[in-house]
Amino acid sequence: MKTLAIHGGTKLRTRPFPARGLLGVEEKNAVMKLFDDAIASGNAFGYNGAPEKQYEQDFAAAMGGGFADAVNSGTNAVFCALGALELDAFSEVIVPPITDPGGVMPVIYVGCVPVVADADPRTYNLCAETIAPLITERTRAIVVAHIAGDAVDMDPIMALAEKHSLYVVEDCAQAHGTYYHGRRAGTIGHIAAFSTMFGKHHCTGGQGGVVYTRDEKLHWQGRRFADRGKPFGLENAAGNVRAAINCNLSDLGAVIGSAQLKKLPAITAGRQRVGEAVKAAFADNPAIRVGWQPANSVSSYWFLRMTVNPKALPCSKADFCAALAAEGIPVNPSYRHIPCEAPWFKNKNTFGKSGFPWNCTDYKGPKDPQYSIVNAIQAAETNFNISVHENYTDQDTQDIIDAINKVLAGI
Ligand SMILES: Cc1ncc(COP(=O)(O)O)c(C=O)c1O
Repeated sequence: MKTLAIHGGTKLRTRPFPARGLLGVEEKNAVMKLFDDAIASGNAFGYNGAPEKQYEQDFAAAMGGGFADAVNSGTNAVFCALGALELDAFSEVIVPPITDPGGVMPVIYVGCVPVVADADPRTYNLCAETIAPLITERTRAIVVAHIAGDAVDMDPIMALAEKHSLYVVEDCAQAHGTYYHGRRAGTIGHIAAFSTMFGKHHCTGGQGGVVYTRDEKLHWQGRRFADRGKPFGLENAAGNVRAAINCNLSDLGAVIGSAQLKKLPAITAGRQRVGEAVKAAFADNPAIRVGWQPANSVSSYWFLRMTVNPKALPCSKADFCAALAAEGIPVNPSYRHIPCEAPWFKNKNTFGKSGFPWNCTDYKGPKDPQYSIVNAIQAAETNFNISVHENYTDQDTQDIIDAINKVLAGI
């Protein structure tokens, strides 16, 4: 048995894992062309121009049809997707327990009330069983997030939503190219939000996002909301038709996005190669495995979620992760991204001292709701993440597998 690096043995992986190399000459050339055109014509590039329309067309084509609106962040994509629904103020919107704050905060900024459902005990994601008991006469929408690129089990959620006439917003920030029952994540709910910041599967530069829907009416409502209520899609409307802010992307981000979309199939395939190899290696391991994913789904592996069985693991998860990190593996020991545990949520720190929306008299729901998120906390305690990406070679993948086996044997 080899001595673990954490106990003074030789580190399994000494070389750094490869960089992503997300941006290349294709993006550079696209940006240069935009500048060349601007310099030659004397006209600065802007937003909502031909490049942005092209990116939106490319994005919709990649989704198999529908409508895309490029915006300036994933947070604002969630904001505009919710804005597209034109919900009455103080409507309740069910949100995931584990997600980026940018997947929850927009609920407040469309004047609604986030209601936190618990996770499916097998994942970081929401499920129908935990959503159902929270539906009230005030509920109007559900935001689901495909965390890690692992698909949410959508069919039961869509059935529940239909039964109660609720909208479903898919937060696909981490799930470009995830599939569920043969359908691409983002095409299953009524409307979807993508983040295209530089760390995501494909990007539009440093920041960006996309609102996607197959429903033309929602598309136009979203577009109006994303650009100060301009009357897009309306005939004979004079002036700005609703109060909204400016969430546009720019043509600069759009040309990067179009170049990136050409790479997206290879990016997701590369991540799947890594993720599926690790999944297969630990499929029968009683102590550790790649976390549960719904049947007939294909993760896009924004990161690799590893689930431990505390009863079979020879040590605590924290000690295991520390030993794995010492072997040179990029480990995040805890993904406790639980927005309702954050001070802004707990202290209702929204608009001044108003305590909006909970404290407002127009809101008839609980002023100080207590959410049961035991599964989410359990998920944070029994899972850890390994950073993976499309540039990992088979040797890189093997090193991850070997390091896990080494720690399992030696701890
Ligand atoms: C699930 C989820 N939703 C929303 C966001 C917000 O996206 P952005 O950082 O582009 O605003 C993120 C960002 O990582 C995310 O992971």
